[in-house]
Amino acid sequence: MGEKDLGLIGLGVMGQKLALNFQNHGYSVAVYNRTEQKTRDFAAKHSEVTAAYTIPQFIEALDRPRRIFLMVTAGSAVDATLGSLRDYLSPEDVVMDGGNSFFQDTERRCTELAKHDVHFMGVGVSGGEEGALKGPCIMVGGPSEGYEKVRQMLTSIAAQVDGPCCQLLGPRGAGHYVKMVHNGIEYAIIQVIAETYDLLTRAAGLDAKQVHGIFETWSKGDLSSFLMEITEEVLRKKDIETGRPLVPMILDRAKQKGTGKWTSQNSLDLGIPTPTIDAAVSARNMSGLKEERVAAAKILKRSRKSLRFTRTFASKLRDTLLASTIIAYAQGFHLMRAASQEYGYDIPFGEVARIWKGGCIIRAKLLDPITRAFKENADLQNLMIHRQFATVLKRSETGWRGVVRLAKESAIPIPATNASLDYYDGYRSERLPANLIQALRDRFGAHGYERTDKTGEFHTDWST
Ligand code: ATR
Repeated sequence: MGEKDLGLIGLGVMGQKLALNFQNHGYSVAVYNRTEQKTRDFAAKHSEVTAAYTIPQFIEALDRPRRIFLMVTAGSAVDATLGSLRDYLSPEDVVMDGGNSFFQDTERRCTELAKHDVHFMGVGVSGGEEGALKGPCIMVGGPSEGYEKVRQMLTSIAAQVDGPCCQLLGPRGAGHYVKMVHNGIEYAIIQVIAETYDLLTRAAGLDAKQVHGIFETWSKGDLSSFLMEITEEVLRKKDIETGRPLVPMILDRAKQKGTGKWTSQNSLDLGIPTPTIDAAVSARNMSGLKEERVAAAKILKRSRKSLRFTRTFASKLRDTLLASTIIAYAQGFHLMRAASQEYGYDIPFGEVARIWKGGCIIRAKLLDPITRAFKENADLQNLMIHRQFATVLKRSETGWRGVVRLAKESAIPIPATNASLDYYDGYRSERLPANLIQALRDRFGAHGYERTDKTGEFHTDWST
């Protein structure tokens, strides 16, 4: 029997960094990769790590119960790897999937492996390459008996902010679900930052240096976050070849790996509105239509009404960015609340907000009051109605509405910012025009309707 504390499969960028992080925290690690050469290269640089070149050799190297961390590409690669491991696993072994797997796949794998008494954990890891090496945020889902066997090692490699940024968030797919929503919120915040940048540059005509100065100031206050910090950092960056600011030289076509889309798809499945996240996903799709946009710009010419940059405008824009960011979190937590009930996850929202404070991409100062809000009331329906956030949103409203109006006048698209304001106005509308929708549905399809003055289901013959 081997004595290594952990086996890691998959030596991509993230897998390598995580293996080193475990090793740096005193855990002995054996690694295996489908392509042998990658293992050889890694072992040549890191002699402290044990290299295995076959699955039996890898399994032999591990202490029991075995603790195996998969860092292979999400999707069929995870099933292929599990298939190659299955005959070698024993009851009580723990297999963790650290990739960006779809939570429903994790549910299925958990159930399958539980039949063999193997604990399968879906582990959402956020923080990119740097986080993986120095301390990521780790969102775990799976059986608590399995978690107890790996808790020590996972919490020790995680980022530490008010405790380890690693937590068991529920059974089965709960960890990957929370990671998916984390990414949805990330999409939304990145989009509202990009829209703010667009208003400052295309509408107000500021140059890269001026915009950088504004983000530098904002990133120190209530808006302080990792994403604001790196916005400031990338706006400062000069192109090595030309010496000019690099960001304006980058092609305006954004890619995506699909986790934002999954969040929107799941919100449609659960019937929970997440319009800011949806708008962010659509905005990336719109950016992908570069050639069509270039052609359309010649036909559907926009009038170039520019707006004057003033300190008042800057302050309104800051309020807008803050309000839209709060809305992105509000939608994400609202969605997780519905999922927690639907899938029986029982997600501890205060802990989700707390572990997001370190290691992950959406770490932000705002997560302090969000953590407090959910620790005060674990059943909070929507962040917007918590007194502290309600106050900030009400205070931001005038500026927010003003910015949306100015953007419309300047013909600058702000889909996520706009969706945030509509979400705010929709959620606080006691009455919406769904009465007319019900009347129309009853008129063309006899779907029935409810009334405000008496209970029951009604149908009207509308043609007479
Ligand atoms: P990263 O983005 O961190 O570099 P990734 O692309 O998500 O990582 O995952 C890459 C890892 O998944 C690699 O270790 C890769 O193995 P190879 O080096 O042999 O390509 C592994 N991987 C991908 N598909 C696989 C499969 N079908 N079976 C086993 N491993 C697979």
